[in-house]
Amino acid sequence: MKELVNRIKELKKNKNAVILAHCYQNAEIDEVADYVGDSLYLSQMAAKTNADIIVFAGVYFMAQTAKILCPDKKVLLPNLKSGCEMADMINLRQLREFKNKYPNIPTVCYINSTAEVKSECDICCTSSNAVKIVESLNAEKVLFLPDKNLGRWVEKKLGNVKVITYDGYCPIHHNIRTNEIEKVKKENPDVKLLAHPECREEIADRADYVGSTTGIMNFVKNSSDKKFIIATEKGVVDRLERDYPEKEFVIVKENLICESMKLNHLKDIYDSLNNETYEIKVDNEISKKALRCIERMLNVSK
Ligand code: 13P
Ligand code: SF4
Repeated sequence: MKELVNRIKELKKNKNAVILAHCYQNAEIDEVADYVGDSLYLSQMAAKTNADIIVFAGVYFMAQTAKILCPDKKVLLPNLKSGCEMADMINLRQLREFKNKYPNIPTVCYINSTAEVKSECDICCTSSNAVKIVESLNAEKVLFLPDKNLGRWVEKKLGNVKVITYDGYCPIHHNIRTNEIEKVKKENPDVKLLAHPECREEIADRADYVGSTTGIMNFVKNSSDKKFIIATEKGVVDRLERDYPEKEFVIVKENLICESMKLNHLKDIYDSLNNETYEIKVDNEISKKALRCIERMLNVSK
């Protein structure tokens, strides 16, 4: 492993490349990553890098977003099978139908969406800035897609905006059930529950903290508690266990795994950088329109 790590680092230097890694990736990738974090952080880092090549250890929509932000750079996704099931729940036709059903209402799309969908939405958001983004619109009603759980959570947090949600969700987070949470809470009384906002409303209601992947990790960092219940993908728990060996983490259920996030291992990163595969391309017109939607978010998130 050490040798592979060194070879990747050498390639990075020679090719002026950076590696961005989402915190659901296999934790070994952090050894070579320049930036590790949530979707917002990674898109901010992509927007400001001076590198010639970006290797995105994440899923397709993340690499596509990086390409839209940096059209002149080479953006590589190590495995083209790394999709996001939630992002694939809405296409352009379905978006248009949704907008036609509720005309003249601003449309907010979660970053977990395709470039085509972003190109016809007003503003983008991530789990860490969704509340702020919706609030920034000063609207009585907004359309929110694809994640109905995140949309519901934003509506509850704001209290004065009607959030009309599309019927999309993350199969991994949506699969966490109230009875499972109740059971873990009962087994671990007085232990705080930290949940991702892609979880069902009933789970978010029971959580002591709801936030992005980085938000959850920061909560642990800043807390004096010694034990936590975590309701998000296992990659976050792996990193927490690595970084805080003195603390204990209870994952709400087994198999909270996003398979397409786990396709990358160090060897895949090496191959991607060495062979410069697989290059992400986005149609020019779509890219320009989607950029407006993403940049508007980044400006609000500064
Ligand atoms: P974060 O932006 O919180 O990292 O979430 C991305 C994601 O895909 C969660 O399922
Ligand atoms: Fe998509 Fe869910 Fe995987 Fe996140 S965890 S990338 S939302 S399928």
